[in-house]
Amino acid sequence: MQGKLVLGNWKMNGRLAANLALLQAMLADADINRAGVGIAAPYPYLAQLGAAFAGSQLAVAAQDVSRYAADGAFTGEVSADMLADMGCRYVLIGHSERRQYFAEDDACLRQKLQAAVTAGLVPVYCVGETLQERESGRFAEVVGEQLQALDAISGKEYVVAYEPVWAIGTGRVASIEQIDEAHRLILERVLQCHGASASIRVLYGGSVKADNADAILSLASVGGALVGGASLEVKGFGKICQSAK
Ligand code: G3H
Repeated sequence: MQGKLVLGNWKMNGRLAANLALLQAMLADADINRAGVGIAAPYPYLAQLGAAFAGSQLAVAAQDVSRYAADGAFTGEVSADMLADMGCRYVLIGHSERRQYFAEDDACLRQKLQAAVTAGLVPVYCVGETLQERESGRFAEVVGEQLQALDAISGKEYVVAYEPVWAIGTGRVASIEQIDEAHRLILERVLQCHGASASIRVLYGGSVKADNADAILSLASVGGALVGGASLEVKGFGKICQSAK
């Protein structure tokens, strides 16, 4: 059986010196420094991660990718080919902060998914409902619609991150029952479309911390975690990675 995957998402945080100290501490921690763990850093620091993780099994991930072609006149963009060239294995696509603040819609996300897979990256496709959508009973409908963007993608490895928007950075974690229900629904939907031969993992994201990681990561439907705030310090992140073993 495939192991669980824990990805830290540093979001728009970090500076060279602080990153170096954090990366060194992560490399020295046996719960973190192993296969099945990675960090998604801002673009300028991907080379720093690549150098730090060289010779280890830790994965480098990007937080976003251009929807456009491998090269060309797209000032400010970073292509999937460039990310692969920098040693990235994973790329986050459709994080709720990108959907919310940068108006990324389904058409854009479909292009990004395709660009990532074409370049040999594993997309970590983020889905999740807002509080209003959850409270009006529309969570399955909303997540189902978001998942349609994956239908046209053909790959061997599918990683979906279920992140209820109302649980991100709020300290308000979804209940174990809510997580299990959502993950089962997503797994069933992706399995229906892509078949049992593909590797399919559904990560949970949204206020995952050292003290709730055991309960969340012990669910069979949870294939790992996408960790924001807690990936910025080694102790809590190490505990989360330990829970995923
Ligand atoms: O990408 C990570 C998620 O947005 C979760 O962030 O762990 O700070 O709530 P958080």
